[in-house]
Amino acid sequence: MQLCVALDMPKRDDNIDLAKKLKSYDIWLKVGFRSYIRDGKSLIENLRDINPSFKIFLDLKLYDIPNTMADSAYEIANLGVDMFNIHASAGSVAMRAVMDRLRDIPNRPLVLAVTALTSFSDEQFRGIYGASIDTKAREFAIMSYESGLDGVVCSAYESKDIKEATSKEFLTLSPGIRPFAEDSNDQNRVADIAFAKEQSVDFPVVGRPIYQSTDPVAKVEAILEQIGKKANSF
Ligand code: C5P
Repeated sequence: MQLCVALDMPKRDDNIDLAKKLKSYDIWLKVGFRSYIRDGKSLIENLRDINPSFKIFLDLKLYDIPNTMADSAYEIANLGVDMFNIHASAGSVAMRAVMDRLRDIPNRPLVLAVTALTSFSDEQFRGIYGASIDTKAREFAIMSYESGLDGVVCSAYESKDIKEATSKEFLTLSPGIRPFAEDSNDQNRVADIAFAKEQSVDFPVVGRPIYQSTDPVAKVEAILEQIGKKANSF
């Protein structure tokens, strides 16, 4: 299990400061819409400068026509990030186009597909997709697996079922993690680390509970301890 810390703060310097504080920990950093739209490629370079061993997940959730998704995936791979994601609901033609475009790239980034956003309630989800979250998340996961992706973004509640339906090696990344019963904010399907572990989640994603905490470093250490990792692994 690899802790993924979301850098979603309002200012570039705040994200950089947090990364500096966490530079000696064996973690992944998640750069999402807010930070990437504001700070772009140079943020990725700055994070790499802080610690070249940081693993970076670019959370842009691509959703477009297959050719545009494949072109964008190629550009993302050239940024040198370690993982990025696309929407499974873009369909298997788009997912295969993305994987085809990355085929010849050495050390290509891992590609995950978003199944259902963790902020959805079952009722909200049903209103859009016409099916329950677990049924559709499983369906999207199988489609992603068959399209050659490396894994999916799902809530901790679907992780085990998805691995059973695909493969143990098919990665699951779960946002909505509240390690110590912190405020769930706008997330609907929240889970703690113990549950995520039980459900074989590969990447628990934690944002606000870390960056809004009075002591983010202590929070990360406590989470790493729960995961069963020695705090300073570099
Ligand atoms: O602050 P919090 O821990 O809720 O942050 C969760 C992060 O994961 C946010 O950056 C959010 O955009 C992202 N995310 C999510 N649900 C998904 C995919 C990504 O919450 N399905």
